[in-house]
Amino acid sequence: MTYQSVNLAYEEHGQGTPIMLVHGFPLNRSIWNPLLPLLENKARLILPDLRGFGQSPVPEGTYTMRLMAEDLRALLDTLKIDKVVLAGHSMGGYVSLAFAQAYPHRLAGLALISTQAAADNPEARASREKTVEEVKRRGLKTLADGMAPHLTCQPALVEPLRKLIMKAKPLGVIGSLKGMAERPNAQEWLPSITVPTVVIAGSEDAIIPIERPRLMAQLLGRAWLVETANAGHMPMMEQPQAVANAILQLISSF
Ligand code: MLT
Repeated sequence: MTYQSVNLAYEEHGQGTPIMLVHGFPLNRSIWNPLLPLLENKARLILPDLRGFGQSPVPEGTYTMRLMAEDLRALLDTLKIDKVVLAGHSMGGYVSLAFAQAYPHRLAGLALISTQAAADNPEARASREKTVEEVKRRGLKTLADGMAPHLTCQPALVEPLRKLIMKAKPLGVIGSLKGMAERPNAQEWLPSITVPTVVIAGSEDAIIPIERPRLMAQLLGRAWLVETANAGHMPMMEQPQAVANAILQLISSF
């Protein structure tokens, strides 16, 4: 199987251990901004926009997690980075797990943030199909209005997140919804991931309940769990210091 990668838009900050921060759905690289002042003196931060989001190309078709992992691999090659720490948020975590399976030798460590390893169940798949139809017919407003209040437990962040979702491109949203719906169950290869891994989750996450990252941490070879109070699905925005500390602990464990 060959995968046609695209050239992702990205920004870089700082120097040191390379860490690639991979945003979730349907967002873009700006979600990581609160972490920049906390990490850029200690690491080289690479922030891509996944295909279909931010300033990256928006191709037609289904964005499988494996295909998006290929885009990350192509960016690492462009930057001549042999091994990287991948910090993946939610869908970015699904992509990071696909990368870990395809390119274990390119991985120095993993931070899995507000994410899970299991595939969608039939209800989740049906709900994604409904959202695809809704976005095709009426654009992003229903998704943005419905999703933003569930992303965070901090009321002040709801409106900025709603606006962020409204910046997404319908084709990118549709491509990644289809890709998430058909992603495989990564639980099968979790035990084979041998790099140090921190699993970070907000205790108030209304999108991915805390039991799922807890289970993922148990199934991983060398993982520890950081549960963050007063955080929902967006701990890098809600509790940036706690997330930065967890990532710093990860890179100091090498
Ligand atoms: C995300 O935050 O990336 C998505 O909500 C994850 C998902 O829909 O499974």
